[in-house]
Amino acid sequence: MTLGIIGATGTLGRQIVREALNEGYQVKCLVRNIRKASFLKEWGAELVYADLSIPETIPQALYGTTAIIDASTSRPSDEYSSKIVDLQGKNILIKAAKIAKIKRYVFFSFIKQDLYSNIPLIQQKIEIEKQLKNSGLNYTIFHIAGFFQGLINQYAIPVLENRSIWVTKESAPLAYLDTQDIARFTIRSLSLVSAEKANFSLAGPKTWTSQDIIKLCEKLGGKKAKVTPISIQVLKSIRIITKLFQWTWNISDRLAFTEILTSKQIFSADMQKTYKQFNIQPEEINSLEKYLQEYFAKILKRIQQVNSNNVKKESSF
Ligand SMILES: NC(=O)c1ccc[n+]([C@@H]2O[C@H](COP(=O)([O-])OP(=O)(O)OC[C@H]3O[C@@H](n4cnc5c(N)ncnc54)[C@H](OP(=O)(O)O)[C@@H]3O)[C@@H](O)[C@H]2O)c1
Repeated sequence: MTLGIIGATGTLGRQIVREALNEGYQVKCLVRNIRKASFLKEWGAELVYADLSIPETIPQALYGTTAIIDASTSRPSDEYSSKIVDLQGKNILIKAAKIAKIKRYVFFSFIKQDLYSNIPLIQQKIEIEKQLKNSGLNYTIFHIAGFFQGLINQYAIPVLENRSIWVTKESAPLAYLDTQDIARFTIRSLSLVSAEKANFSLAGPKTWTSQDIIKLCEKLGGKKAKVTPISIQVLKSIRIITKLFQWTWNISDRLAFTEILTSKQIFSADMQKTYKQFNIQPEEINSLEKYLQEYFAKILKRIQQVNSNNVKKESSF
């Protein structure tokens, strides 16, 4: 089976590429910047040019591909709106997959998304799911709570660098997951008949609010965080302003998510049935404590080494 992975340079996509290669799949990465994706070639994947904002690049990129894993999404820094990539581009990808007789199509969205269908990116995800279900393709859809990896820039680095962390008073508990674990579920789904034309919610072992994560980072980093409270009203106003200019539409869409995170919902799921179905043991799933502990230990060791090298240099003068 040759896998076509789009979004392969992304946080989740790269872990899926690694897992697929480890499991012996032929992997074709559909990328819009070959140079940026060169590390995937070094890992053993093939690179094919495809850009979801340029429809004509898509059909030819699927040549020789048996399954598609779509881990792509528009970047907040892109100059066009998310509609171009997350709606129009994916609509073309589904049509091209149908013509190419793709055997499995894997797609990712957000847990409990139906409750937030007023948010543009979620609206687009819901629409694409509908198109997939009506396409006749063999799809597998994962609804995910959030990634551990996103917490490094949001909390861990600001704690280490003494930078402000902006948080709202209200913070919904979210069961974050390691993208390496999501990649395992993804690749395993390809060999499961029961994952054909099926949806799965994926959640980590424990829920975390912003305040819980900050406390954990403070403990592991040995530093007090500089927390700056921000009201949801201010966030809403920033969103209205960014919505006014086309070049900040993507930022506005991202800010809409902060409204979800201040809701009264708990973003988690009972995973027992899914673990069994995928033959994955709960103990194999990484915990946020362990993930952040490893991150802080690595960084603090590096800082210590740099400091001791500087002391050595100074004393040799
Ligand atoms: N992050 C979360 O917490 C979370 C939670 C639930 C679900 N999800 C979903 O999980 C999936 C992966 O998210 P992620 O955070 O790993 O994404 P990410 O790190 O932002 O990566 C996005 C990927 O999409 C690619 N891409 C963007 N525009 C493209 C275009 N026009 N043509 C082709 N490729 C394009 C990017 O390529 P470049 O490197 O060239 O920019 C990159 O590889 C997405 O569907 C996302 O909605 C994410």
